[in-house]
Amino acid sequence: MDAITAIQRRTSVRRFRPDPVPRDVIERLLDCAVRAPNHKLTEPWRFAVLTGAARDRYAAMRARQRLARFSAPDGEEARSAADKMRRETEETPAIVVVVCAVSPDERTREEDFAAAMMATANLLIAAASLGLGTYLRTGSIMQDPEVEALVGLEQGFRVVGVVSLGYPASEEPPRRRRPAAELTRWVQG
Ligand SMILES: Cc1cc2nc3c(=O)[nH]c(=O)nc-3n(C[C@H](O)[C@H](O)[C@H](O)COP(=O)(O)O)c2cc1C
Repeated sequence: MDAITAIQRRTSVRRFRPDPVPRDVIERLLDCAVRAPNHKLTEPWRFAVLTGAARDRYAAMRARQRLARFSAPDGEEARSAADKMRRETEETPAIVVVVCAVSPDERTREEDFAAAMMATANLLIAAASLGLGTYLRTGSIMQDPEVEALVGLEQGFRVVGVVSLGYPASEEPPRRRRPAAELTRWVQG
């Protein structure tokens, strides 16, 4: 599938078929990720791919965190939400944790973060072009010491996103967007 069709069809996918994503396919996606534009070629991105038992450890962490967000973590509602989180994560064939260098220089830090997110976008679009579904998450996962330990985060780096990856359980239509024409001013002359 060409890039424009992949961009137009991409949508966040939460449910995946159990089929594993072959390692060479994930490597191909990551090779697309690192083609992103990158000021001064700092190559700030790093990736950790979680599958199998590592993915299940991540699922257990997410379930514990979900539980901790309830005022009554022993209650039925909390347990059922945590179980759902664990199940959904265990049913995700692969999880790509995107890591970015944290430069002491503010401008470089910002540019590196932008580059890491462009790399992530490349990964999502390349995945869509191969019929794979993805889901990018950020939030509390980005400052989680347990996740940092799981991916072996090095000093001077931080987690900037977590991408779920797999073959979609069903085909979903892309979500609504305002047309770019409504959001664009052409400045001429
Ligand atoms: C930087 C970034 C962070 C995101 N973080 C989350 C997240 O933490 N949780 C979540 O459910 N979705 C997250 N998303 C996915 C968006 O919710 C999703 O892209 C949006 O609902 C639009 O749907 P679509 O991707 O299917 O077009 C994130 C997306 C981006 C770009």
